[in-house]
Amino acid sequence: MSELRFDSETARALEKAYHTRDMIRRRRLVREALAAAAGERILDVGCGPGFYARELLDEVGEKGAVVAVDASPDMLALARQRCEGQTNVTFKEGDATALPVDDREFDAALCVQVMEYVREPKRALEEMHRALRPGGRVVVWDTDWATVWWHSSDAERMRRVLTAWDEHLVHPSLPRTLGTHLRAAGFADVGVSGHSFATVDYDTESFAVTMLGMVADFVPGHCGVTGDEVAAWKAEQRDRAERGEFFFEGTQFCFTATKPA
Ligand SMILES: C[S@@+](CC[C@H](N)C(=O)[O-])C[C@H]1O[C@@H](n2cnc3c(N)ncnc32)[C@H](O)[C@@H]1O
Repeated sequence: MSELRFDSETARALEKAYHTRDMIRRRRLVREALAAAAGERILDVGCGPGFYARELLDEVGEKGAVVAVDASPDMLALARQRCEGQTNVTFKEGDATALPVDDREFDAALCVQVMEYVREPKRALEEMHRALRPGGRVVVWDTDWATVWWHSSDAERMRRVLTAWDEHLVHPSLPRTLGTHLRAAGFADVGVSGHSFATVDYDTESFAVTMLGMVADFVPGHCGVTGDEVAAWKAEQRDRAERGEFFFEGTQFCFTATKPA
């Protein structure tokens, strides 16, 4: 079955999701790891609706610049809108495995929740390596979807839903091999930190509830999961919340590395 398409519908869903508290927390963690300084040139690979580009412009200031690349015209349209009036940002349509940028153009690069959708992650990391100056920094963030779990009285149904969700992307557990890929692409000082988004609250600002909606929209028709099954799973989660029995866990990983000087 087909993977998630980054079309106008997905773009609208992500635009909404990225305003929530847990996604704001994720952007803060990424920006801390990237540590952009005034005057730096930053490359955002798979920029989506442009939240990072807009926030990083404030960090690099007038003398710095952001170049943001994405394969989806629908995502780029939202990103351009978000950064309207800003002069030191450039948006380019392109693939992570063939970046439309020059060699050694950037001080730092980020790639958040993108690499797990890329068929050849090592090739994409080699491209980021090529784009960085010697000594340049990279931040790559991905989720290990095998860590994602909503507590359910029907464990088999939960497993079926999650197996169907794995079809939405190419690499459901990419963080397990990202360190290897970063080193193979020529990066040094490879480090990782894991960030849990666990919660016991059915809270619309949480990753748990954002993902519940996205998973429920995607999985019917995948791996034999039906719409009725998904509706029953969603209803169970709301009932659990009302009884104070809601529980979700999911871990996302922030990789950092440098291009040797
Ligand atoms: C989940 S969104 C993340 C957006 C953004 N990085 C963020 O975290 O706010 C994934 C983005 O990666 C883009 N993408 C997926 N595969 C890509 C590829 N091979 N090359 C470039 N962009 C890609 C999609 O179009 C989408 O905008």
